[in-house]
Formats: sequence, C-alpha cells, structure tokens
Amino acid sequence: MPKKQKTKKHPLKKFIRRAKPRAPRPAAESAEKPKRTFNLLRGMHDVLPREEKYRKPLYQSALELADFFQFSRIETPIMEEAGLFIRSIGRGTDIVDKEMYVFEDRDGNKICLRPENTAAIARAYIMHGMWNMPLPTKLWYWGPMFRYDRPQAGRYRQFYQVGYETLGDGGPAVDAELILIAYNFCQDAGVPVEIHLNSIGTPEERKNYKTALVDYYRAKRGYLCDDCKARLHKNPLRLLDCKNEKCQPVKDEAPQITDWLGEESKSHFMKVLEYLDELTVPYTLRHTLVRGLDYYTRTVFEIYPSLTGEAGAQSALGGGGRYDLLVEEMGGKPTPAAGFSIGIERMVAAIRAFNEANGLRPPAPKYDLYLAQLGDSARQSALRLLNVLRKSGLKVSFNLSKNSLKSQLESANSLQVPYALIIGQKEVQDNTAVIRDMESGTQEIVDQRKIDNILKKKLGKM
Ligand code: HAM
Repeated sequence: MPKKQKTKKHPLKKFIRRAKPRAPRPAAESAEKPKRTFNLLRGMHDVLPREEKYRKPLYQSALELADFFQFSRIETPIMEEAGLFIRSIGRGTDIVDKEMYVFEDRDGNKICLRPENTAAIARAYIMHGMWNMPLPTKLWYWGPMFRYDRPQAGRYRQFYQVGYETLGDGGPAVDAELILIAYNFCQDAGVPVEIHLNSIGTPEERKNYKTALVDYYRAKRGYLCDDCKARLHKNPLRLLDCKNEKCQPVKDEAPQITDWLGEESKSHFMKVLEYLDELTVPYTLRHTLVRGLDYYTRTVFEIYPSLTGEAGAQSALGGGGRYDLLVEEMGGKPTPAAGFSIGIERMVAAIRAFNEANGLRPPAPKYDLYLAQLGDSARQSALRLLNVLRKSGLKVSFNLSKNSLKSQLESANSLQVPYALIIGQKEVQDNTAVIRDMESGTQEIVDQRKIDNILKKKLGKM
C-alpha cells in the first residue's frame, strides 16, 4: 500500500487557530472619537492631477530649451547649510531676514530649506571643480524652493522654479541668450510677456550710486513711509523696491543708477540691448529695478506678463541677472556668471488668466486610438496588445475598469480618436480584433499579430 503522504503544516496555522474573533467595537465609542483629519501647512499646496495639463507642457518646453541651448540638468538637495544663502543672498534682504526656513538638525547644524537655487549651484560648481570642464558651464534645474513668505495669490511657502545658469563667461551675449530662453519659455506657454531690464554695475559703481541715493532720500525723509526710513540705513537700494503710494513721487525723481556706471559696465549693457533688439525681444528699461538678492552685478532683469487687469498687475513671473562675483566670494576662482529662474505656479496662473481672457482652453491630449474590451479574457488580450501598441509608438487611450462597449465607444468619441480597436470573446478565440473607423463607423476584422503595422499604416505613421 502506498504510504500516506504527510501534508505540510502551514507555517501560520498555529496563529490562525489561536486567533480569537475580535469583539465588535461598541458603536458609542467609535461615534465619540471622530478620526482626526490633517490639513496642509499654511502657504503649502498640493499639485493636483488637474494641474498636469499646465505643468507638463511647461516642463517639456524647459527640457527642449535646455537641450537646444545645451544646458545640462543639475539637481541639488533641498536642504543646505543656512550660511550658504545668508552669505550669498545677503543680510538685510527680505529672503534672509524674514523668509528662510532655518532649523537645527540633530547634530546641531544650522540647516535651511533652500529659498532659491543660484547659491547652491555656485556651491556645487566649486565643490565639483566644474571649471575643469569646457567653459562655459551651462546648468538648468526644476524643483521646489521654500520661503516663509506671507501667503497670498502667487506667493507660496513652497513653490517650484525652473532656472538656467551659465558660469564661466562674462560676455553680454550670455545675458542676451538667457533672456531669450526666458522669453521663449513664456512664448511656448502662450503668455505674452515683457522684460524689465536694468544694469546695477559693479560694487564700486554701486557704492558711489548708493551715496547719491542716500543723500537724495535723506533730504526727502519727511515724505517717506516707515519701511523706507529704515531702508535708508539698512539697505538703501531696497528704497527703489518700495510699492507704497506715499513714496512713489520721491522714487520717480530718484537718481538713476545707469548714470553711475563706468565705461565697461555701460558698454556691456549697451551690447545686451543691441542683442535683444536684434532678437526682437521686447524689453523696457526700468531704472528702479535692483532685484531682492545681493549677489547681482551689471545686468538684472525681470519678466512680467503683459496682460491688462489684475493678472497683469501681479508680481514678476521670473527674474535673474549677472552674478560675476558670487563664485569667488564663496571661495571659488573668479568666475563670471549669469542666470535666471521662473516661478512655475505664477506661470500656471498667467496661462490660466490669459486663457480666461481669450476664451481658450489648454489643449486636450491627443490619442491615435481607443482600445475597448469586453469580458475577462478580452481584458487580458487588451493588456498584452497595449504593450505591443506602446512599443510601436502609438498613443492609446483605454479604461480597463469599464465593461460596457457603449460607454467605451462614447469615451472614444469624446476623445475624438480616429480609430477604436475592439476585442471581445470571439476575437480572443480567433486571435483577431475589430478596427472601427470612428468617423465613418465602418469596421474591419484584422489579425492581432499584424495590428500595430495595420494601424500605423492607417494613421500615416509608417
Ligand atoms: P527671485 O526673483 O527671488 O529670483 O525668484 C524667481 C521667481 O520665483 C519669481 O519671479 C517668482 O516667479 C518665483 N517666486 C519667488 N518667490 C515665490 C513665492 N513665495 N511663491 C511663488 N513663487 C515665487 C531667484 O530666485 C534667483 N535665484 C533667480 C536667479 C537665477 N538669478 C540668477 N540666477
């Protein structure tokens, strides 16, 4: 007689046997303790799937511009030593004095969430000896920045920036190339913009200008807001940033920095303007534009939507300029550099405002066909076919959770695809599929193995 085979015990059997059925919770107890839900931190926001139709084209355009203008992607950490930003952006600026997220880590190091990325890029440039590579070094980035700002429209505590930085070339063509990239980025997004432009010269030129500015403002002290009275001592260039109505007449008559520029700075700026004229990039000279970060030298610029109304009056979409001394000040070799960054949330808001004003909608994604299936085995074939179609470069829409052919064809209709591919039980058995021409309604049965080539031929993709 054959031996009776011992059945192997399930390793969890003893636990299964011992487990006692759990007593149901008394209804009153669960009613008394509602589960806590969590909210976002103030000034933070979720980037929801509905934003994708705006952000994805922006990302694609950023990538294309980087490829075309030969910028390589750099990703620096979102946390850095706080001193990096304090030294580069400068004390007395809003970012350093009021807006940095600074904390101590468990080892007592003073850390901050990056408020911007230029200083971090200068740090990486020095640390990785990038000057040993062919110059100039052209880097681009896309990522979150953090500023403890007062939340309001277009002002968040976490926001995304795309940025481009060129290190190792002090020529005016670099400034023009960067402004051209910024301008193209906005044009690709369909947002009409204008560039506000100024030159703030070298530190020596600025020093003389600051003396003249302080002398002028001191004489008008009585007409200034309290903030400006403080700026007069703390950071006189910030006087030109003041948005307070009370200070505007004083600001309008203030000495202009371009009158304090030396020959070299002047001719650099003139050359930038010449290049921009040649490129037909629209710009406006703004003698009060000084930027809110201390590392700039010579050319500075900001990008504004040229929209009317509230959307037009909003703050800058982006900004940048030259920072010829930053790398050296941070311990590197003398390295002239320039760059800019654009805020993604503000770009999305500008696209929305522009679309709304012009009755436009963001373009819907385009598909080559819709794949519809009926029943379990058809779903299995559909999955296999999806993979074949993807590899042959076709864009397919589908919904494997749907069972009714009617509703799947309705989806195909609303997506305005030229063809639907239908697989039912019979097609699975015959290894075929039905191609339906969505416009004429005609159908043909084709061999599943040839389906990719047949569809590519029909779509003119062969
Ligand atoms: P920024 O002007 O401080 O420059 O910021 C650039 C852009 O980031 C702004 O124009 C805006 O679109 C966006 N942005 C700034 N703060 C916020 C906020 N709180 N909420 C939403 N968006 C914001 C810089 O960051 C420099 N690193 C630019 C640069 C690059 N200069 C040379 N290279």
